Amino acid sequence: MQKTLVIIKPDAVQRRLIGKIINRFEEKGLEIVGLKMTVISEGLAKEHYSVHEGREYYENLIKFMTSGPVVMLVLRGMNAIEVTRKLMGSTFGYEADPGTIRGDYAMSKRFNLIHGSDSEESAEREISLFFENGDLTQNEQSGLKWIYDMSGENPL
Ligand code: TYD
Ligand code: MG
Repeated sequence: MQKTLVIIKPDAVQRRLIGKIINRFEEKGLEIVGLKMTVISEGLAKEHYSVHEGREYYENLIKFMTSGPVVMLVLRGMNAIEVTRKLMGSTFGYEADPGTIRGDYAMSKRFNLIHGSDSEESAEREISLFFENGDLTQNEQSGLKWIYDMSGENPL
């Protein structure tokens, strides 16, 4: 099973969308294995978005991401990275498809409510940036056997 990092960004927290956003992932069948509310330090925000350094939007992105509390989630599931990105919708709110989180609730380029890792490599890097290994639950949800067919060797 794959893990991915989701950040419910400062705009979503201020707009009281935490519950609605978490609900999308829960209802889809992804497992929440890590969860916390925090304010991201400038250093961690810069590290998290280091591949964007030098872009014209970078400084404002860092300012935005450190401007207030965020909620961080680690989600686990089959193809969790791709599934999460699909539920989020494309980057700019006004372009994102209806039915996606950004498509339903965002209009802006920068204030786009949510971050999700874009590859296994970045998921691993981003999760270890914000969570200690011991912060993630090791318990498997009992309901999993109704999310996947668990009768074989691997979940299907
Ligand atoms: P990116 O990784 O391209 O998007 P995504 O969040 O969908 O993975 O960009 C990171 C964040 O940078 C994006 O969520 C919003 C911000 N951003 C801008 O403000 N302006 C831009 O032109 C781009 C491409 C991104
Ligand atoms: Mg990205």
